[in-house]
Order: sequence, then C-alpha cells, then structure tokens
Amino acid sequence: MHDQLTGKRIILTGGAGFLGRHIVEHLRARGVSDGNIFIPRRRDFDLTDMANVQRLYRTAFANAKADLVIHLAAEVGGIGANRANPGRYFYANMAMALHLIEQGRLDGLIERGGKFVQVGTICAYPKFTPVPFKEDDLWNGYPEETNAPYGVAKKAAWQMLDAYRIQYAMRSAYVLPVNLYGPWDNFDLESSHVIPALIRKCVEAQARGDQEIVCWGTGAASREFLYVDDAAEGIVRAAEVMGDPTPINLGAGFEIKIKDLVELIVKLTGFEGRIVWDPTKPDGQPRRQLSVEKAARLLGWKAQMTFEEGLRRTIAWYRANGGRA
Ligand SMILES: NC(=O)c1ccc[n+]([C@@H]2O[C@H](COP(=O)([O-])OP(=O)(O)OC[C@H]3O[C@@H](n4cnc5c(N)ncnc54)[C@H](OP(=O)(O)O)[C@@H]3O)[C@@H](O)[C@H]2O)c1
Repeated sequence: MHDQLTGKRIILTGGAGFLGRHIVEHLRARGVSDGNIFIPRRRDFDLTDMANVQRLYRTAFANAKADLVIHLAAEVGGIGANRANPGRYFYANMAMALHLIEQGRLDGLIERGGKFVQVGTICAYPKFTPVPFKEDDLWNGYPEETNAPYGVAKKAAWQMLDAYRIQYAMRSAYVLPVNLYGPWDNFDLESSHVIPALIRKCVEAQARGDQEIVCWGTGAASREFLYVDDAAEGIVRAAEVMGDPTPINLGAGFEIKIKDLVELIVKLTGFEGRIVWDPTKPDGQPRRQLSVEKAARLLGWKAQMTFEEGLRRTIAWYRANGGRA
C-alpha cells in the first residue's frame, strides 16, 4: 500500500544530522509542512532514556499524534570511534530503537495505521559476505569486529520490528544504506568517516603547504559510497511504499579501492604532496559493495549521482562552510 506523506505527522529522529537534513528536504518536496515534521534534538530528548521517548510521543504534536516515525538518530563514527566506544555504541543504538519502537506501539502508532522506518547499516553484514552483499546473507556470520557492536545493535532493531509485525501487525520499513558522503557530513577528524576525513586532510595540508598526508591502513580495502541525497530519496521512498521490515540495501552499485579513492580526492582538491600509508592502522572490512536489485524492485529506486560529481559538490561545500557547526 502506497502511503501519501502529505498531511502525515512525522517524528524524524536525528533530523538535524547529516542524513536527516537531506531527508527534511525530500519530505518538503513531497508537500510535508515543517509543522508536521518534529525533530527531537538530543539536548531536549536523550532517546536512550525511556522517559524521554515517552515524553516525545506525548508532546511532539500537541493534541495530535504521530503517523510516521523515521528513526535516524544514532551514535556513529569511523573505525577509530567504533574501537574507542564499543559499549556505548551498542547501548545507545540498541536503547534508542528499543524505546522508540515499544513506546510507539504503546502510544497507538499501530492502531492509527502508522509506520516505523528504521535506518540500518551495512556494518550489520558478516565480515566475509560474498560481494555484492545480498540481504539474504545478513545472518550468515559475525560482522567485522571493529564495528560489530554498532552493527549488531542496528540488526537487533530489524529483528524487533519483524517480531512486532508478527505479534502486533506493526507496519515498518528497514533500509541499509552503504557509506554515505555529501554536504553536511561530519568533518571532525575524531569521529568522521573516510571521505570527509580525506577531504579535510587534503584541504588543510594544501593550506599549510605540507609535503605529505598520512592515511590509515594499506589502501587495499574497497568500499562503496552513496551520495547522501540519493540515500534520503531511498528512505523516503521506503516510508511511502513498504509495510514490512524486509531489509533493503541502498547502495550506489560500484566499489572503489581506498587507494584509488585517496588519489581521486587528492586530484579533486588539488593537493600536490605525497600520500603516506600507515599500515599499523586497521583497514576495516576487506570489501564492501551492496546488491541493489531489491531496492530497484521493491522501491523503484536507483542512485542518480555520479561519484566524481558527488565528491566535487562535497569538497565545494566543505571549502565554503568548513564543516558543520
Ligand atoms: N553516515 C553514514 O555513512 C551512514 C551510513 C549508513 C547508515 N547511516 C545511518 O544513518 C543515520 C544517520 O546518520 P548520520 O550520518 O546522519 O549521523 P549524524 O550526523 O551523527 O546524526 C545523528 C543524529 O542523531 C542524533 N542523536 C544521537 N544520539 C542521540 C540521542 N541519544 N538522543 C537523541 N538524538 C540523538 C543527533 O541529534 P543532535 O543533532 O540533536 O545531537 C544527530 O542529529 C544513522 O542511523 C546511521 O546509522 C549512516
């Protein structure tokens, strides 16, 4: 059943984050008014705490109730941040999903014909999944160790939605975006992902006149990257057309070695120094690329942005804004 989003009251957790800002644009483009999009900020609603989640459902729309929850809020980061915070990342991501889904049920989301959209992560896949990763392989092994706590917490949310579908007929959707990049990404070197980290390193090294940049690992691992605007469209499409949490990959359909990625970013930023690899640092999962067949079939969705153009726009945004405040 296709849900028309215009007129729906939507709780968008994480809506002020990187992906969230782009989802807001896509909801507006569908005619959803700003008054019907409630974004709980962490300073007002720490969603790892059940009482805050109860308050969120009670107060988000004054005398009315939410029809749709799009749950993006997460505590996330790159390899370094995942290695430093395995306990916190498991707890925070598990607790947020646990409380939001159960309190949504108690708040009458199911009786109102509402829906819960959970954004998962490619970190849920087994470390040695055959490439391209197919959704049917999600339970066929343990994830790459550095991001397993985060990945497993996100995967448990999928299990919870499926259990709630079976027992309570809760309607939901579950999508797994691959690594994202684009304007409004996190450029903080302590917690950023590989593309914003590389862009920042190259731009700053260039400004200082450095002779080299140091990159983690060997460059041998490969990754897939999806432009954030394409991901936002896929998630909103899932909110419209899905009624069950069948996991759906959102990917760009290509894979690039980190070594080639670094060379491309060096070229696009104009940095003229050397690239030095630090093999004492981990490479992470050896290969990552998603099958996008299901997204095409179930959502009628396909990534539109070419990789070079997406990188150009991201670099231009970083040069103009110096990261987000
Ligand atoms: N970025 C990627 O490459 C990628 C790839 C696959 C999947 N995803 C998924 O996409 C979603 C969004 O990621 P993102 O990159 O946009 O992350 P982000 O920029 O770090 O945004 C995360 C948001 O979550 C909110 N949040 C964190 N902890 C919270 C808490 N305890 N209570 C309430 N809100 C909290 C933050 O709210 P405040 O702004 O109020 O602090 C923030 O806006 C996540 O679920 C992530 O797993 C991301």
